[in-house]
Amino acid sequence: MRNADLVRRKDAATPRGVGVMCNFYAERADNAEIWDVEGKRYIDFAAGIAVLNTGHRHPRLLQAMQEQMARFTHTAYQIVPYASYVELAEKINARAPGRFAKKTAFFTTGAEAVENAIKIARAATGRPGVIAFSGGFHGRTMMGMALTGKVAPYKVGFGPFPGEIFHAPYPCELHGVSVEDSLKALQQLFKSDIDPKRVAAIIFEPVQGEGGFHVAPAAFVKALRALCNEHGILLVADEVQTGFGRTGKLFAMEHYGVAPDLTTMAKSLAGGMPLSAVCGRAELMDAPAPGGLGGTYAGNPLAVASALAVLEVLEQEKLVDRGAVLGDRLRDKLEGLRSRVPQIAQVRGVGAMIAVEFKQADGSPDPDFTRQVQARALERGLLLLSCGVDGNVIRFLFPLTIPDAVMDEALGILADALLG
Ligand SMILES: Cc1ncc(COP(=O)(O)O)c(C=O)c1O
Repeated sequence: MRNADLVRRKDAATPRGVGVMCNFYAERADNAEIWDVEGKRYIDFAAGIAVLNTGHRHPRLLQAMQEQMARFTHTAYQIVPYASYVELAEKINARAPGRFAKKTAFFTTGAEAVENAIKIARAATGRPGVIAFSGGFHGRTMMGMALTGKVAPYKVGFGPFPGEIFHAPYPCELHGVSVEDSLKALQQLFKSDIDPKRVAAIIFEPVQGEGGFHVAPAAFVKALRALCNEHGILLVADEVQTGFGRTGKLFAMEHYGVAPDLTTMAKSLAGGMPLSAVCGRAELMDAPAPGGLGGTYAGNPLAVASALAVLEVLEQEKLVDRGAVLGDRLRDKLEGLRSRVPQIAQVRGVGAMIAVEFKQADGSPDPDFTRQVQARALERGLLLLSCGVDGNVIRFLFPLTIPDAVMDEALGILADALLG
């Protein structure tokens, strides 16, 4: 099988709307490496878009899924329940931020978790409004798109979207938006667009993922919490990309000392199996009536088995701490190259959730240089993802299980790619 033949078949058989970044096809993968159908090897710093904190095919995950497969693969939890679903909910309730009684419901994708968090918030408050942030990404379903704060390519041609959704600017000092600016914009929304008493939820990413790995300042998160408390609004942390060890904590909200009312999670939760969740205050989670939440595949037994193994592996291999150490190494490497790569505008992030933003000589975004770095790295066998509303940011999503030697090799390739 040749990559070029597969590209031709893909173009004929699948719609262009399912945009595909690479022109090579996966044959097999192991931990932080992936091989294509022509035998070329890549170091995988994309990790299936932040899904593989525990690496490709971790033996413990495979064993857990094989054991589950030998017993049953699907009953529909809402018809015939199974203990592992309950056990995973208990474990997440015990670990998610917030010292209060929690409950967790499982779904399949990140967007579905977001949809359900908004359903729960509306049911619990009896209010319609939702506030999200510019640059935020919350998925490709109707509500996910409505909440997403980036038009192209996510929203083009797909409206109208659900109503009562408003956006405020996300703070970003580099681009001239202070915490104060964001908070003022929220107050302005309350004056010009919606009475805060009609707002069910404010949803935000503690570190914006697709939006460019912008880290929410602590003052901002604390102010959001206070604003929500003042007006009876629920604070929803979308931890779909930040969760499960990426930021040096199991959940990014642990960095802030305040808890959200509801947390969405997906991606690395089940290490490559489709599973998402909403975890939140028990009384809020119980607001929707029986039958209002769920889905045919929601909390699939194989995915749940994999997620239980992910928690075990994260804890046994101390991967959350290791992620923070690896993130520091990457950050040091990038900072060390700064004097020789004038395009570097900023190296930022938290834990292993690190990104580098590129600018042109006049300070404007440099998506061309970003694409060049990505292409040069790929040619040398390192798969990198970009992000940011201007496409001028490279984000690093290496598995936290990556062996030191492979990490060193990747950092060498990255340096070469940056230096041209
Ligand atoms: C913060 C955030 N929320 C929601 C989503 C949507 O997740 P999914 O693609 O699994 O629907 C994503 C995906 O990148 C995300 O990063």
